[in-house]
Amino acid sequence: MDCEVLRTLYVKANGQIRCNDDVGERVVLGAVDDGNSDWSIADVLANEPYAKIRKALADDRPPWDGVCEQCPFLARGSAPRDLLVERRISMLHLEPTLACNLRCPCCSNQAQLRERPQPHTMPVGMWDQLLRSLRDGNYELDVIRYEGQGEPLMHPQFSEFVQLARKHFPATRQRLTTNGNFDYASKLAGAPLDDVLVSCDGVWQASYEQYRVGGEVERVIQFMRDGRKLTPERRPTIRWKYILFEFNDSTEELVEAQRVARDIGAAQLLFIVTGTKYRSQKYAHENLDTLPIESDLVAVHLHPVVDLVARHGEDQRPPWLDAMWRKRGWPRAPRLDTTGHEPELKPRLARANDRTSPRARGHNATLLKRLCGKKLAKLIRDPVAFCRDSRHSLVRSLGPVLLRRVGLWRTSESANRSRRR
Ligand SMILES: C[S@@+](CC[C@H](N)C(=O)[O-])C[C@H]1O[C@@H](n2cnc3c(N)ncnc32)[C@H](O)[C@@H]1O
Ligand code: SF4
Ligand code: SF4
Repeated sequence: MDCEVLRTLYVKANGQIRCNDDVGERVVLGAVDDGNSDWSIADVLANEPYAKIRKALADDRPPWDGVCEQCPFLARGSAPRDLLVERRISMLHLEPTLACNLRCPCCSNQAQLRERPQPHTMPVGMWDQLLRSLRDGNYELDVIRYEGQGEPLMHPQFSEFVQLARKHFPATRQRLTTNGNFDYASKLAGAPLDDVLVSCDGVWQASYEQYRVGGEVERVIQFMRDGRKLTPERRPTIRWKYILFEFNDSTEELVEAQRVARDIGAAQLLFIVTGTKYRSQKYAHENLDTLPIESDLVAVHLHPVVDLVARHGEDQRPPWLDAMWRKRGWPRAPRLDTTGHEPELKPRLARANDRTSPRARGHNATLLKRLCGKKLAKLIRDPVAFCRDSRHSLVRSLGPVLLRRVGLWRTSESANRSRRR
């Protein structure tokens, strides 16, 4: 039996080290003791709870009765792969703070603020101590991911966190997940981030603010734009995460998001199908391939809460998860196969994503050849962008409409064909 707890480290704002950010939140494995100069991460990773995990996995048993059975990280049928013992960590997942500037209705943030032990914001000294201990213990660190149940950029010294990590681990990739309601330059000045994932569920304020309560969509779009304006050596990859809700899923808004994503230089626009309250009624697992995708920047993912619902059942949840459950109004558990996945889901996702594949782009290229001849078509790599940016007003106005029509027609055609098969 295997589990990625032997390859990752999940550290909460109060310094506690827990199993992971899912059901494993209930299991505390240790803590950073920032007042103690003798404290060492190597001692934590060899302590009793870790020894119990190693022994159980080696014996092909789940380490924590009543917990692991519901956890998506348990891999039955695989041999344990312990990187921690080799002093390598594939991901250090850090929650810098629980504070947040928004009030998204389905988030557990407020419940965790009420229930979790203080501090709710990690002191810089604690982060420094953890990094020093990892460095002095000769640990290799592949990725640091700043994300938790609060907004990382609400930490008043967030930049210092990134700089410290760069100092101690110059080659480690640093990733941030943020709601982006900030001024990029003043918040992240001098923070050498590699990747920024921005949660921005909409392009228009009226739809965006229904979930991102207290947020301003123009500010978020400007945040992404500003991130891309930095000099190449400081410029992070910007990925836009767009959760599909019932109030932001019109064709016009989804198509506009694709235009804006390209305009600001985003590396990816991720449409997320969620299982929470307010989820899109128009796009669900059954018809992902009807999403109006016309840009190769788009990818479609499912939010893991769908699996979470299925795995957790009705009992044995921490109190904050309970509150989140009530608030989110999660749907009934989907039907699962023995590996814990919904069998019909994977091909549907693959089909939705296939629309951005070279094959899908090929459909547009064929039309383009018809519209402007072989020679010119060869020179044009992205037909949609070409039509949109053309100097000729007729191509600009009619081109994208035609391409979209053909794209949609091809999709429903191929969907019908695969259904018949
Ligand atoms: C709790 S947030 C913390 C990070 C940051 N405050 C943010 O919103 O991006 C962690 C992740 O949960 C996602 N999230 C929030 N509400 C969600 C929902 N209803 N369904 C799926 N994902 C959600 C956010 O987009 C974000 O990627
Ligand atoms: S499967 Fe068990 S040991 Fe692994 S992360 Fe989940 S709760 Fe922790
Ligand atoms: S911005 Fe992030 S942390 Fe804050 S309430 Fe929304 S989802 Fe939760």
